[in-house]
Amino acid sequence: MKKTVMLAIALAVFAGACKKADVPGTEEDLSSGGNDWEMQGTEPEKILQDANPNVKVGVAVKSSLLAPAGAYRDQVALHFNSLSAENDMKMRVLQPQEGVFDFSNYTIQNVAKDYGLKRIHGHTLIWYNSLPQWVKNAETETLPAGTTRAARFDSIMSRHIRRVINNYDHPATQFKDADGNPLMKSWDVVNEVFYDDGTYRGAVNIQNGVDRGSVWYRILGQAHVEKAFRYARRYARANADYGLKLFYNDYGHEYSTAKLNAIYDMVMNLKTKTEGGQKIIDGIGLQFHINYDTDTAKIAAAIRKMASTGLLIHISELDVRLNKGTTPLSQAELDARTAMQKAKYKQVALLYRKYVVPAQRWGITVWSLGDGDSWLAKNSSGQQIDYPCLFDLDYVRKAVFYHFYDGLKDPI
Ligand code: GLA
Repeated sequence: MKKTVMLAIALAVFAGACKKADVPGTEEDLSSGGNDWEMQGTEPEKILQDANPNVKVGVAVKSSLLAPAGAYRDQVALHFNSLSAENDMKMRVLQPQEGVFDFSNYTIQNVAKDYGLKRIHGHTLIWYNSLPQWVKNAETETLPAGTTRAARFDSIMSRHIRRVINNYDHPATQFKDADGNPLMKSWDVVNEVFYDDGTYRGAVNIQNGVDRGSVWYRILGQAHVEKAFRYARRYARANADYGLKLFYNDYGHEYSTAKLNAIYDMVMNLKTKTEGGQKIIDGIGLQFHINYDTDTAKIAAAIRKMASTGLLIHISELDVRLNKGTTPLSQAELDARTAMQKAKYKQVALLYRKYVVPAQRWGITVWSLGDGDSWLAKNSSGQQIDYPCLFDLDYVRKAVFYHFYDGLKDPI
């Protein structure tokens, strides 16, 4: 073994032994990068879910990757105490045909139950996207005499929310924590109702084959948001689950003030509403699909504004993109941007802890485990164009992992 390698190992072991005396790194330290080889796998005591007892750390998982034993499941089990379903709980998956619900996939619940009773965060009940075809058809189908389209969509919404909440939340569920409460602790009840200019998605707006408008808005109007929260609260309460946390989830808080303000106004209004005597909204999800060069001051402003609502704050889909284009970056670009990415991951964790008091923290969820399975990973020709995650293509911790870890743990 080369001398430098042995020295690196000795230093890493020493650093591990001294971890109680960790000195916070400065941003200058962080952006200078560090020795990636030295960082990888040499500090096994650094486990994300243990970094800070006041910050839950979640990951969005794909049940297809989680089902087989292997590195993916091992890292999910080891590092995270909260699981979000990246796609497995969207409407298109759970209700592929009208009235036909598919709850046969127990992978996420089983892993949550078998590996330390992890919290499950449901994603998502009502969204303009990922709809089954039959819901899209319902917008134009012929209605039976005497029915209105609004009544039709109201009943579609109500049934979907009721059946999904019941499935995960039912008193008879076997997926329970040590107190006998369901492991499903929260739901993104409504996802992404606003455009970046702060107006509601509405009229049909096809982009790359996807309608970025919202059928829910077109048929039920702005009121559909409150309606969805009311149904979610009502059906949770019907199951005697008074602890289920209900979230509004969106992106762009950090780059659009108009959208930030629109979200603020909407949730402040929802906060005044109750169902069965209980508040209908508990929290806000800030997705934070950010870039290596996203302005840190804007991230801070977004967190502060949302925290000022008094609601729970979940950084719900964190990833840090290196590439804004569609072709692979050069090695020099990758190196420079990776250094900035490290600082960004750390800053997000530090700012979250700085501006969100522990009682308001729902935690930080990263969106995908490894660079290979991120929604940002590949271009349409299948080339790997981005590396936005904490783990590499083989689910080995990257250097950026340790920067995020430090952000969760270092004094602020
Ligand atoms: C949004 C949604 C997620 C997911 C990502 C892309 O953020 O909330 O469910 O689809 O886009 O993966």
